[in-house]
Amino acid sequence: MALRSVALFALCGVSLASPSAPPLRPVSTLFEFPNPSYIENLAVRSNGQILISDLSTSQLTLFDPSPSGPKKPVFVHDFTESLALAGIAEYEPDVFAVITGNFSFTSDVPSAGTWIVWSLDLRGADISSKHGQLGLTLPPVVKKIAHVEPANFLNGISVLSQSEQTLLISDVSGGVIWSLDIKTGHYEVAINNTYTQLYPAPRFSVSGVDGVHVRGGSVYFTNFGNGTFNKMPIHSDGTPAGPVTTIAHNHWPFHEYDDFTFDCDGNAFVVTGGANTIEMISADGKRKVVIAGGLNSTAIAEPTSCAFGRGPHDKNILYVVTAGGLETPVDGDVVIGGQLVAVNTTSRGSAC
Ligand SMILES: *[C@@H]1O[C@H](CO)[C@@H](O)[C@H](O)[C@H]1NC(C)=O
Ligand SMILES: *[C@@H]1O[C@H](CO)[C@@H](O)[C@H](O)[C@H]1NC(C)=O
Ligand SMILES: *[C@@H]1O[C@H](CO)[C@@H](O)[C@H](O)[C@H]1NC(C)=O
Ligand SMILES: *[C@@H]1O[C@H](CO)[C@@H](O)[C@H](O)[C@H]1NC(C)=O
Ligand SMILES: *[C@@H]1O[C@H](CO)[C@@H](O)[C@H](O)[C@H]1NC(C)=O
Repeated sequence: MALRSVALFALCGVSLASPSAPPLRPVSTLFEFPNPSYIENLAVRSNGQILISDLSTSQLTLFDPSPSGPKKPVFVHDFTESLALAGIAEYEPDVFAVITGNFSFTSDVPSAGTWIVWSLDLRGADISSKHGQLGLTLPPVVKKIAHVEPANFLNGISVLSQSEQTLLISDVSGGVIWSLDIKTGHYEVAINNTYTQLYPAPRFSVSGVDGVHVRGGSVYFTNFGNGTFNKMPIHSDGTPAGPVTTIAHNHWPFHEYDDFTFDCDGNAFVVTGGANTIEMISADGKRKVVIAGGLNSTAIAEPTSCAFGRGPHDKNILYVVTAGGLETPVDGDVVIGGQLVAVNTTSRGSAC
């Protein structure tokens, strides 16, 4: 059996998928932003609408993926104090933490020291079309939680404790994970080790811990430069409670593990920036398969983050945002606008 699989494997010339890999899942583009753009993160509201952040603008947008939705994003808020938007996490029902800071793809603006975490309250706000104008029925209530002055580049974000109102936030250019108390704005370094620290990342400057998500008493995180996906038990304040386990390593420099999410069975869905794919990694790390996209395909061009649907009919749909190949062009030279795409998976990712 193993020999036959290996022979087939060699004959087909497949290089990324393993011999037992399931067929790739279908991908459809829901919206393409203007080129250039670098869609960085997303968060799905309980009503199914998707908040979208772009590292190349200060404007946060919202997209309704339901069949009756307007097929284009709606303006939510302009964080005029900053040039860029990064991670988003829902810390109370329909209230989100949003990272902003200064970063530019076209000019050399100072970035370290500019990172701010905001609260964005969307309760009661829906998408409406009045006199042909798309907008929110109510503006969001936006408040500054903290300016994390010692941070270099805040990127990934996750709720540490909803009841205690605390967050964990990765500093991808600082190589540490910060904890932040939403009520007081107090922040401190929670995790700083060889798995979070900085490593050379081709095309980017040195990069460290990137995607970060808390699940069942552990923190899971990728290291963009080091090419690892890791798990570590933590205390309730986010500090280490045990050793780090590396669940998966990527294969080659541009493979780039970025952000990820989980399905109801605990499988991780990790985006691979320069490899243009989504990898499903089983909870024990033993099974790792490409489920969608492909190295030389623009179907998922330089993905940055993903999240499962929360609407009535899309709990198996993995929404993925992309940078369009802006930093790592597809096939060496193709750059398209950043996108929101939908991958129809066989997993269930919400209302577990
Ligand atoms: C970010 O850049 C803008 C425009 O250059 C500037 O006004 C603002 O003060 C900067 N933010 C921080 C926190 O330094
Ligand atoms: C992280 O740890 C390294 C090595 O101990 C240290 O040099 C660095 O200052 C720490 N970073 C922060 C932000 O505390
Ligand atoms: C990842 O980190 C480990 C431990 O520091 C190091 O041995 C390894 O060379 C690193 N790999 C890359 C690709 O940076
Ligand atoms: C696929 O893309 C890689 C990376 O850009 C490139 O080196 C390679 O030649 C491409 N392969 C094909 C078959 O086009
Ligand atoms: C997802 O695929 C299933 C078949 O595998 C199909 O029945 C369903 O309609 C698809 N959903 C969407 C939203 O495309």
